[in-house]
Amino acid sequence: MLADNLKVLLASTQSFAIKSQNFHWNIEGSDFPQYHAFYDTLYGDVADTIDKIAEYIRILGHYTPGSLSRYAELSIIQDQTKIPRAELMFAESLQDCETMGQLVVAMFDEATEERQQGIANFMAELQDLYGKKAWFIRSILKKERE
Ligand SMILES: [Fe+2]
Repeated sequence: MLADNLKVLLASTQSFAIKSQNFHWNIEGSDFPQYHAFYDTLYGDVADTIDKIAEYIRILGHYTPGSLSRYAELSIIQDQTKIPRAELMFAESLQDCETMGQLVVAMFDEATEERQQGIANFMAELQDLYGKKAWFIRSILKKERE
């Protein structure tokens, strides 16, 4: 059901935002200023989508989950309690962008089938967001290998 998937998307977005902020604070390396700034922007861009996801759940007539324990149950983005090395942070964030991308593509199809065009449009915007972030991270990782 679309509302249930929006709840999964909300929880996953919260997890992704928290992880991005964790990496913003704790990343280290010779390119620290750029890495720190990249994760600040990633956190902000991801966090900016949270309210709209939550409000679509309400628009569909469901209540919006709003607790950390519910987000932990619902999220498909795995929590990170450790401080990985920079390259591993980027690899993990790339994987997470791909996971988010797959979820919103599936939800675009579901929203279209249910003739929820506003939600479908929003899912298309999120596909662009996560696709662009994945491109940035792939480019960062390529530079690191040289
Ligand atoms: Fe900061």
